Amino acid sequence: MAGVPPPSIALGRQSILLPDPVPAHPLLDGKPEIGRGEYSIVLDKGDDERVYKVVSSPADYFLYTADDRPRGKHFPITYVDHGIIGRAQSGYPFHLLEMEKLYPLSESCEAADLATRIIELYWSACQQWGQLGINMGRIALHHITGTKPLAFNDSVNSALQALSDFVEEYHVLPDILNTNNLMMRKDGTLVFSDPVFIA
Ligand SMILES: Nc1ncnc2c1ncn2[C@@H]1O[C@H](COP(=O)(O)OP(=O)(O)O)[C@@H](O)[C@H]1O
Ligand SMILES: [Mg+2]
Repeated sequence: MAGVPPPSIALGRQSILLPDPVPAHPLLDGKPEIGRGEYSIVLDKGDDERVYKVVSSPADYFLYTADDRPRGKHFPITYVDHGIIGRAQSGYPFHLLEMEKLYPLSESCEAADLATRIIELYWSACQQWGQLGINMGRIALHHITGTKPLAFNDSVNSALQALSDFVEEYHVLPDILNTNNLMMRKDGTLVFSDPVFIA
């Protein structure tokens, strides 16, 4: 259904923010909070290169740390897994990860245009598979990566394929309708910073 804009808010989920305070940990002492979502808190390490990401979603933890996680140009680098540092009110453990610092997509740059194209293609596939309910996003992503000719350049096509494989393997769901989950490096590379969630 070309021309129908994707929802800027993915099913209303983005308006919910993790209510927990930053867990006490020596590495996080005095570090400014620079981001927060439904499952994660991001604090600036202060070296301009890395952030501390406190993640409570098992989907995120797998995505950032599993040996067989998607890697390469369009996925965030995890430098150190500092282990479990507490428990969220949701019941999930808080894992502290040291990750590469990313930046919001600035308006009208190449990465933002690419993000829009990815979101629009994914959204139109979601509409096509909407009757599948909870399986919609998973099948939509699978469809995008399996339909020839592939829609993007090699590195983006491979990243979408890697994401689709991860979603299938780990029984998680894609979360790429919202631009908050797509970020960029200083050099302008688009990064899938938070592309999965658990149902
Ligand atoms: N690597 C990062 N570097 C800098 N800021 C980040 C990074 N990852 C996420 N953020 C910021 O933190 C917010 C929440 O992160 P996100 O991974 O989307 O968490 P959630 O799992 O809660 O959705 C993002 O919208 C973004 O603004
Ligand atoms: Mg997010």
